[in-house]
Amino acid sequence: MTLGKTIDGKAFAAKLRGRIGEGVTDFVAKAGRKPGLAVVLVGEDPASSVYVRSKGKATVEVGMESYEFKRPATISQEELIELVEELNGDPRVDGILVQLPLPKHLDDAAVIATINPAKDVDGFHVVNAGKLAVGDPSALVPCTPLGCLMLLKDELGDLSGKEAVVIGRSNIVGKPMAALLLGESCTVTIAHSRTQDLASVVHRADIVVAAVGRPEMIKGSWIKPGATVIDVGINRVPAEEEGKSKIVGDVATAEAISHVAGITPVPGGVGPMTIAVLLRNTLVAASAREGLTAPAGL
Ligand code: GUN
Repeated sequence: MTLGKTIDGKAFAAKLRGRIGEGVTDFVAKAGRKPGLAVVLVGEDPASSVYVRSKGKATVEVGMESYEFKRPATISQEELIELVEELNGDPRVDGILVQLPLPKHLDDAAVIATINPAKDVDGFHVVNAGKLAVGDPSALVPCTPLGCLMLLKDELGDLSGKEAVVIGRSNIVGKPMAALLLGESCTVTIAHSRTQDLASVVHRADIVVAAVGRPEMIKGSWIKPGATVIDVGINRVPAEEEGKSKIVGDVATAEAISHVAGITPVPGGVGPMTIAVLLRNTLVAASAREGLTAPAGL
């Protein structure tokens, strides 16, 4: 085994977008229209604005329609729910994504619950979370964990019987990631901020998925030699140069790189996969709405 390999999520995401583009061409030929993705952005959070812009660009690049709905941070809960209901009823829209986090006065859960589960390309609705939990293949699955699973299967092939440790228990990453790994017949542990002796829990893993949101919290010495590591963290920290900042993951990569079988870099690992999977989910949702078979190999 060659150790110390970086897993190139950027290249994998580009290949995936290429396959999605082919799937979109096929969809247009059969359905006579393009798949459509609606993104709702409330307020002016700079990071969210950047994400939404990249999502719109990537959507158009694979041949889909992108609809953006920007609303002021002062929008009421009722108005936002009304917008989601309009999108539920809009035949051009196959996927609805409400960018999170929402301003404090808005109730994320109530807004997500309003989205038609068949258009819930984020996979956040309880119907999709439930389908994933019971192994229903019609589930729309959250983009980041599904992207992580694709990278793992590309690296390792069959995951059956492997020890997987997921660090983080969010509804967006940790819990769906654990469900996906269980679906691949891994032995799954979910660790979190209250886990005792996290170092030894991480040390038994063949697969480590770090999604805690704490800069370089997972130390290199905790990771078993030959393990495969997926780093979901995106943490902004001060850079060496005065007044500058940089992005680091949840894993101390420099300490781990020499003895892992593979590790995703930050940036350039999981990040590019998330948007590619969002496009994949939109095409899958559009195909299901049109009664077409889901595109193969996605
Ligand atoms: N904010 C950060 N990541 C995401 C995501 O994947 N979906 C949504 N809706 N909001 C986000």
